[in-house]
Amino acid sequence: MLPVKRTILVTGGAGYIGSHTVLALKQAGYDVVVLDNLVYGHQDLVEKVLQVELVVGDTNDRPLLDRLFQTHDFAAVMHFSAYAYVGESVTDPAKYYRNNVVGTLTLLEAMLAASVKKFVFSSTCATYGEPTIIPIPEDHPQNPINPYGASKLMVERILSDFSDAYNFNSVRFRYFNAAGADPDGMLGEDHNPETHLIPLVLMAALGKRESISVFGTDYPTADGTCVRDYIHVSDLAQAHVLGLEYLLKDGASAVFNLGNGNGFSVKEVIETAEIVTGKQIKVVECDRRPGDPPALIGSGEKAREILGWHPQYSSLKEILTHAWQWHQKRH
Ligand SMILES: NC(=O)c1ccc[n+]([C@@H]2O[C@H](COP(=O)([O-])OP(=O)(O)OC[C@H]3O[C@@H](n4cnc5c(N)ncnc54)[C@H](O)[C@@H]3O)[C@@H](O)[C@H]2O)c1
Repeated sequence: MLPVKRTILVTGGAGYIGSHTVLALKQAGYDVVVLDNLVYGHQDLVEKVLQVELVVGDTNDRPLLDRLFQTHDFAAVMHFSAYAYVGESVTDPAKYYRNNVVGTLTLLEAMLAASVKKFVFSSTCATYGEPTIIPIPEDHPQNPINPYGASKLMVERILSDFSDAYNFNSVRFRYFNAAGADPDGMLGEDHNPETHLIPLVLMAALGKRESISVFGTDYPTADGTCVRDYIHVSDLAQAHVLGLEYLLKDGASAVFNLGNGNGFSVKEVIETAEIVTGKQIKVVECDRRPGDPPALIGSGEKAREILGWHPQYSSLKEILTHAWQWHQKRH
Protein backbone atom coordinates (compact mmCIF):
# COMPACT_ATOMS: atom_id res chain seq x y z
CA MET A 1 0.00 0.00 0.00
CA LEU A 2 1.30 3.48 -0.86
CA PRO A 3 1.89 5.71 2.18
CA VAL A 4 -0.77 8.39 2.66
CA LYS A 5 0.55 11.84 1.77
CA ARG A 6 -0.25 14.23 4.55
CA THR A 7 -0.63 17.97 4.28
CA ILE A 8 0.53 20.29 7.03
CA LEU A 9 -0.42 23.96 7.41
CA VAL A 10 2.59 26.00 8.50
CA THR A 11 1.84 29.53 9.72
CA GLY A 12 4.84 31.85 9.60
CA GLY A 13 6.54 29.49 7.14
CA ALA A 14 8.10 32.45 5.31
CA GLY A 15 10.08 33.34 8.44
CA TYR A 16 13.34 32.02 9.84
CA ILE A 17 12.43 28.91 11.86
CA GLY A 18 9.24 28.22 9.87
CA SER A 19 11.09 28.08 6.53
CA HIS A 20 13.70 25.65 7.87
CA THR A 21 10.87 23.46 9.19
CA VAL A 22 9.09 23.53 5.83
CA LEU A 23 12.30 22.19 4.29
CA ALA A 24 12.51 19.42 6.91
CA LEU A 25 8.83 18.54 6.37
CA LYS A 26 9.32 18.31 2.61
CA GLN A 27 12.38 16.12 3.10
CA ALA A 28 10.28 13.87 5.38
CA GLY A 29 7.67 13.48 2.61
CA TYR A 30 4.92 15.85 3.77
CA ASP A 31 2.97 18.28 1.62
CA VAL A 32 3.04 21.79 3.03
CA VAL A 33 0.92 24.91 2.72
CA VAL A 34 2.35 28.11 4.19
CA LEU A 35 0.16 30.88 5.62
CA ASP A 36 2.12 34.09 6.16
CA ASN A 37 1.13 37.75 6.06
CA LEU A 38 4.68 38.62 4.89
CA VAL A 39 5.02 41.36 7.51
CA TYR A 40 8.43 39.83 8.24
CA GLY A 41 8.45 36.80 5.93
CA HIS A 42 10.11 36.30 2.55
CA GLN A 43 7.87 35.36 -0.37
CA ASP A 44 10.76 34.17 -2.57
CA LEU A 45 11.91 31.72 0.02
CA VAL A 46 8.57 29.94 0.03
CA GLU A 47 7.73 30.12 -3.66
CA LYS A 48 11.13 29.88 -5.34
CA VAL A 49 13.43 28.12 -2.88
CA LEU A 50 11.02 25.82 -1.04
CA GLN A 51 8.47 25.65 -3.87
CA VAL A 52 5.40 25.12 -1.73
CA GLU A 53 1.99 26.80 -1.83
CA LEU A 54 1.98 30.20 -0.12
CA VAL A 55 -1.26 31.74 1.07
CA VAL A 56 -0.62 35.41 1.85
CA GLY A 57 -2.89 36.14 4.78
CA ASP A 58 -3.24 36.72 8.47
CA THR A 59 -4.15 34.40 11.35
CA ASN A 60 -6.56 37.09 12.53
CA ASP A 61 -8.62 36.66 9.32
CA ARG A 62 -11.22 34.06 10.30
CA PRO A 63 -13.05 33.94 6.92
CA LEU A 64 -9.74 33.28 5.17
CA LEU A 65 -8.90 30.54 7.68
CA ASP A 66 -12.31 28.90 7.19
CA ARG A 67 -11.80 28.88 3.41
CA LEU A 68 -8.33 27.43 3.85
CA PHE A 69 -9.60 24.58 6.03
CA GLN A 70 -12.51 23.92 3.64
CA THR A 71 -10.25 23.68 0.59
CA HIS A 72 -7.47 21.57 2.15
CA ASP A 73 -7.38 18.40 4.18
CA PHE A 74 -4.83 19.29 6.86
CA ALA A 75 -3.52 16.60 9.18
CA ALA A 76 -2.06 19.19 11.57
CA VAL A 77 -1.02 22.81 11.97
CA MET A 78 2.43 24.10 12.90
CA HIS A 79 2.17 27.60 14.28
CA PHE A 80 5.27 29.78 13.99
CA SER A 81 3.65 33.11 13.21
CA ALA A 82 3.98 35.71 15.95
CA TYR A 83 5.73 38.96 16.74
CA ALA A 84 8.92 38.34 18.69
CA TYR A 85 10.67 41.62 19.51
CA VAL A 86 10.91 41.69 23.31
CA GLY A 87 11.64 45.45 23.53
CA GLU A 88 8.72 46.38 21.27
CA SER A 89 6.42 44.15 23.32
CA VAL A 90 7.18 46.34 26.34
CA THR A 91 6.40 49.60 24.54
CA ASP A 92 3.44 48.26 22.50
CA PRO A 93 1.95 45.28 24.38
CA ALA A 94 -1.43 45.56 22.59
CA LYS A 95 0.25 44.67 19.30
CA TYR A 96 1.69 41.53 20.88
CA TYR A 97 -1.44 40.35 22.66
CA ARG A 98 -3.50 40.91 19.49
CA ASN A 99 -1.19 39.05 17.16
CA ASN A 100 0.23 36.38 19.43
CA VAL A 101 -2.82 35.63 21.58
CA VAL A 102 -5.92 36.75 19.65
CA GLY A 103 -4.43 35.65 16.30
CA THR A 104 -3.63 32.23 17.75
CA LEU A 105 -7.08 31.87 19.36
CA THR A 106 -8.70 32.73 16.00
CA LEU A 107 -6.62 30.03 14.33
CA LEU A 108 -7.44 27.49 17.05
CA GLU A 109 -11.18 28.18 16.74
CA ALA A 110 -11.00 27.74 12.96
CA MET A 111 -9.20 24.44 13.53
CA LEU A 112 -11.87 23.26 15.96
CA ALA A 113 -14.59 24.18 13.47
CA ALA A 114 -12.79 22.09 10.84
CA SER A 115 -12.05 19.24 13.31
CA VAL A 116 -8.28 19.56 12.84
CA LYS A 117 -6.99 18.84 16.33
CA LYS A 118 -3.23 18.49 16.16
CA PHE A 119 -1.07 21.53 16.76
CA VAL A 120 2.64 22.25 17.14
CA PHE A 121 3.35 25.56 18.84
CA SER A 122 6.46 27.78 18.97
CA SER A 123 6.77 28.81 22.59
CA THR A 124 9.88 30.23 24.17
CA CYS A 125 12.26 30.11 27.13
CA ALA A 126 11.08 33.71 27.72
CA THR A 127 8.04 32.15 29.44
CA TYR A 128 10.34 31.11 32.33
CA GLY A 129 11.43 34.66 33.19
CA GLU A 130 14.44 34.69 35.54
CA PRO A 131 15.35 31.02 36.11
CA THR A 132 16.26 29.64 39.52
CA ILE A 133 17.48 26.26 38.21
CA ILE A 134 20.01 25.78 35.37
CA PRO A 135 19.67 23.86 33.05
CA ILE A 136 15.98 24.81 33.10
CA PRO A 137 13.62 21.81 33.23
CA GLU A 138 10.12 21.95 31.68
CA ASP A 139 8.45 22.01 35.12
CA HIS A 140 10.34 25.15 36.17
CA PRO A 141 7.88 27.92 37.24
CA GLN A 142 6.88 30.21 34.38
CA ASN A 143 7.01 33.89 35.35
CA PRO A 144 7.63 35.89 32.16
CA ILE A 145 9.06 39.37 32.65
CA ASN A 146 7.83 40.96 29.40
CA PRO A 147 4.61 40.98 27.34
CA TYR A 148 6.19 38.85 24.59
CA GLY A 149 6.86 36.02 27.06
CA ALA A 150 3.46 36.56 28.67
CA SER A 151 1.71 36.31 25.29
CA LYS A 152 3.34 32.93 24.65
CA LEU A 153 2.47 31.69 28.14
CA MET A 154 -1.17 32.69 27.59
CA VAL A 155 -1.27 30.55 24.47
CA GLU A 156 0.30 27.66 26.37
CA ARG A 157 -2.50 27.96 28.91
CA ILE A 158 -5.15 28.07 26.16
CA LEU A 159 -3.63 24.93 24.62
CA SER A 160 -3.66 23.09 27.92
CA ASP A 161 -7.36 23.95 28.42
CA PHE A 162 -8.18 22.99 24.80
CA SER A 163 -6.48 19.67 25.39
CA ASP A 164 -8.66 18.96 28.46
CA ALA A 165 -11.92 20.22 26.97
CA TYR A 166 -11.82 19.35 23.26
CA ASN A 167 -9.40 16.44 22.89
CA PHE A 168 -7.19 18.90 21.01
CA ASN A 169 -3.60 17.65 21.18
CA SER A 170 -0.62 19.96 21.01
CA VAL A 171 3.12 19.89 21.32
CA ARG A 172 4.46 23.08 22.87
CA PHE A 173 8.12 23.65 22.11
CA ARG A 174 9.97 26.16 24.27
CA TYR A 175 12.93 27.22 22.18
CA PHE A 176 16.13 28.65 23.50
CA ASN A 177 18.19 30.81 21.07
CA ALA A 178 17.61 29.62 17.51
CA ALA A 179 20.76 30.14 15.47
CA GLY A 180 22.66 29.01 12.37
CA ALA A 181 21.35 28.25 8.91
CA ASP A 182 20.54 25.35 6.62
CA PRO A 183 23.92 23.54 6.12
CA ASP A 184 23.26 23.34 2.35
CA GLY A 185 22.98 27.13 2.20
CA MET A 186 19.41 27.32 0.82
CA LEU A 187 17.95 29.16 3.81
CA GLY A 188 19.15 31.35 6.66
CA GLU A 189 18.32 34.02 9.20
CA ASP A 190 17.06 37.25 7.70
CA HIS A 191 15.15 39.27 10.29
CA ASN A 192 14.61 42.97 9.67
CA PRO A 193 15.23 44.60 12.08
CA GLU A 194 17.77 42.10 13.40
CA THR A 195 18.22 41.82 17.18
CA HIS A 196 19.86 38.40 17.57
CA LEU A 197 23.51 38.22 18.58
CA ILE A 198 24.91 35.82 15.95
CA PRO A 199 23.61 37.62 12.82
CA LEU A 200 24.64 40.97 14.34
CA VAL A 201 28.16 39.69 14.99
CA LEU A 202 28.38 38.34 11.43
CA MET A 203 27.10 41.60 9.98
CA ALA A 204 29.93 43.34 11.88
CA ALA A 205 32.37 40.82 10.36
CA LEU A 206 31.01 41.66 6.91
CA GLY A 207 31.47 45.39 7.54
CA LYS A 208 27.67 45.97 7.47
CA ARG A 209 27.86 47.19 11.05
CA GLU A 210 30.55 49.28 12.67
CA SER A 211 30.77 47.20 15.87
CA ILE A 212 28.96 44.87 18.22
CA SER A 213 27.65 46.05 21.60
CA VAL A 214 28.14 43.79 24.60
CA PHE A 215 25.58 44.60 27.28
CA GLY A 216 27.13 43.87 30.66
CA THR A 217 30.58 42.47 31.43
CA ASP A 218 30.11 42.03 35.19
CA TYR A 219 27.62 39.17 35.33
CA PRO A 220 28.36 36.22 37.66
CA THR A 221 29.51 34.07 34.71
CA ALA A 222 33.01 32.76 33.82
CA ASP A 223 33.91 35.80 31.67
CA GLY A 224 31.33 38.30 32.98
CA THR A 225 29.10 38.28 29.86
CA CYS A 226 25.66 36.66 29.51
CA VAL A 227 25.47 32.97 28.70
CA ARG A 228 22.84 31.64 26.29
CA ASP A 229 21.90 28.26 24.85
CA TYR A 230 22.21 28.37 21.04
CA ILE A 231 20.32 25.70 19.18
CA HIS A 232 20.87 25.10 15.47
CA VAL A 233 17.78 25.95 13.43
CA SER A 234 17.99 22.69 11.45
CA ASP A 235 17.97 20.76 14.74
CA LEU A 236 14.90 22.76 15.77
CA ALA A 237 13.27 21.91 12.45
CA GLN A 238 13.99 18.21 12.98
CA ALA A 239 12.41 18.37 16.44
CA HIS A 240 9.25 19.75 14.82
CA VAL A 241 9.00 16.82 12.43
CA LEU A 242 9.40 14.46 15.41
CA GLY A 243 6.81 16.43 17.42
CA LEU A 244 4.38 16.22 14.51
CA GLU A 245 4.90 12.48 14.14
CA TYR A 246 4.37 12.04 17.86
CA LEU A 247 0.98 13.79 17.53
CA LEU A 248 0.03 11.89 14.36
CA LYS A 249 0.62 8.66 16.32
CA ASP A 250 -1.90 9.96 18.87
CA GLY A 251 0.64 11.20 21.41
CA ALA A 252 -0.92 13.20 24.26
CA SER A 253 -0.37 16.95 24.63
CA ALA A 254 3.14 17.65 25.87
CA VAL A 255 5.68 20.38 26.40
CA PHE A 256 9.37 20.18 25.50
CA ASN A 257 12.34 22.48 25.85
CA LEU A 258 14.46 22.69 22.73
CA GLY A 259 17.96 23.62 23.85
CA ASN A 260 21.46 22.19 23.73
CA GLY A 261 21.88 21.97 27.49
CA ASN A 262 25.06 23.90 26.83
CA GLY A 263 25.72 27.60 27.24
CA PHE A 264 28.05 29.98 25.40
CA SER A 265 28.90 33.48 26.58
CA VAL A 266 28.63 36.59 24.41
CA LYS A 267 32.45 36.81 24.45
CA GLU A 268 32.77 33.18 23.33
CA VAL A 269 30.37 33.82 20.44
CA ILE A 270 32.40 36.83 19.28
CA GLU A 271 35.75 35.03 19.62
CA THR A 272 34.47 31.97 17.73
CA ALA A 273 33.00 34.26 15.04
CA GLU A 274 36.44 35.84 14.61
CA ILE A 275 37.96 32.38 14.06
CA VAL A 276 35.21 31.27 11.63
CA THR A 277 35.20 34.47 9.57
CA GLY A 278 38.89 35.31 9.83
CA LYS A 279 37.88 38.93 10.59
CA GLN A 280 38.43 41.12 13.61
CA ILE A 281 35.17 42.28 15.17
CA LYS A 282 35.04 45.61 16.99
CA VAL A 283 33.39 45.29 20.41
CA VAL A 284 31.80 48.13 22.40
CA GLU A 285 31.22 47.30 26.07
CA CYS A 286 27.98 48.80 27.44
CA ASP A 287 25.96 48.67 30.67
CA ARG A 288 23.69 45.74 31.44
CA ARG A 289 20.19 45.83 29.90
CA PRO A 290 17.30 45.48 32.32
CA GLY A 291 15.69 42.03 32.27
CA ASP A 292 18.66 40.08 30.85
CA PRO A 293 19.23 37.03 33.10
CA PRO A 294 22.95 36.07 33.47
CA ALA A 295 22.42 32.57 32.05
CA LEU A 296 19.63 30.84 30.12
CA ILE A 297 20.31 27.20 29.40
CA GLY A 298 17.63 24.61 28.73
CA SER A 299 17.57 20.91 29.37
CA GLY A 300 16.63 19.12 26.13
CA GLU A 301 16.56 15.71 27.88
CA LYS A 302 12.79 15.25 27.69
CA ALA A 303 12.71 15.81 23.91
CA ARG A 304 15.57 13.32 23.54
CA GLU A 305 13.82 10.69 25.65
CA ILE A 306 10.26 10.99 24.39
CA LEU A 307 10.69 12.21 20.81
CA GLY A 308 14.08 10.60 20.12
CA TRP A 309 15.51 13.99 19.19
CA HIS A 310 19.26 14.07 18.62
CA PRO A 311 20.61 17.52 17.75
CA GLN A 312 23.32 17.15 15.10
CA TYR A 313 25.00 20.52 15.20
CA SER A 314 25.66 21.39 18.82
CA SER A 315 29.09 23.01 18.42
CA LEU A 316 29.17 26.78 18.32
CA LYS A 317 31.69 26.59 15.47
CA GLU A 318 29.27 24.62 13.25
CA ILE A 319 26.40 26.98 14.05
CA LEU A 320 28.55 29.99 13.16
CA THR A 321 30.01 28.34 10.06
CA HIS A 322 26.56 27.66 8.59
CA ALA A 323 25.31 31.14 9.50
CA TRP A 324 28.43 32.69 7.95
CA GLN A 325 27.91 30.74 4.71
CA TRP A 326 24.41 32.19 4.48
CA HIS A 327 25.36 35.76 5.39
CA GLN A 328 28.14 35.91 2.82
CA LYS A 329 25.70 34.77 0.14
CA ARG A 330 22.89 37.04 1.29
CA HIS A 331 24.69 40.34 1.78
N1 LIG B 1 14.15 33.14 16.78
C1 LIG B 1 14.25 32.66 18.02
O1 LIG B 1 15.34 32.51 18.58
C2 LIG B 1 13.00 32.25 18.77
C3 LIG B 1 13.13 31.83 20.12
C4 LIG B 1 11.98 31.44 20.81
C5 LIG B 1 10.74 31.42 20.18
N2 LIG B 1 10.63 31.85 18.88
C6 LIG B 1 9.31 31.82 18.25
O2 LIG B 1 9.42 31.09 17.03
C7 LIG B 1 8.53 31.61 16.05
C8 LIG B 1 9.29 31.89 14.77
O3 LIG B 1 10.34 32.81 15.03
P1 LIG B 1 11.24 33.37 13.85
O4 LIG B 1 12.52 33.82 14.44
O5 LIG B 1 11.23 32.40 12.73
O6 LIG B 1 10.39 34.68 13.46
P2 LIG B 1 10.11 35.34 12.01
O7 LIG B 1 9.67 36.72 12.27
O8 LIG B 1 11.27 35.10 11.10
O9 LIG B 1 8.89 34.49 11.48
C9 LIG B 1 7.55 34.74 11.85
C10 LIG B 1 6.71 34.80 10.58
O10 LIG B 1 5.34 34.97 10.94
C11 LIG B 1 4.75 35.90 10.05
N3 LIG B 1 3.60 36.47 10.77
C12 LIG B 1 3.60 37.23 11.90
N4 LIG B 1 2.34 37.49 12.31
C13 LIG B 1 1.52 36.86 11.43
C14 LIG B 1 0.12 36.72 11.33
N5 LIG B 1 -0.71 37.30 12.20
N6 LIG B 1 -0.40 36.00 10.30
C15 LIG B 1 0.42 35.41 9.40
N7 LIG B 1 1.75 35.50 9.44
C16 LIG B 1 2.31 36.21 10.45
C17 LIG B 1 5.85 36.88 9.70
O11 LIG B 1 5.63 37.54 8.47
C18 LIG B 1 7.08 35.96 9.65
O12 LIG B 1 7.30 35.43 8.36
C19 LIG B 1 7.86 32.84 16.68
O13 LIG B 1 6.60 32.44 17.18
C20 LIG B 1 8.80 33.20 17.83
O14 LIG B 1 8.11 33.81 18.88
C21 LIG B 1 11.73 32.26 18.17
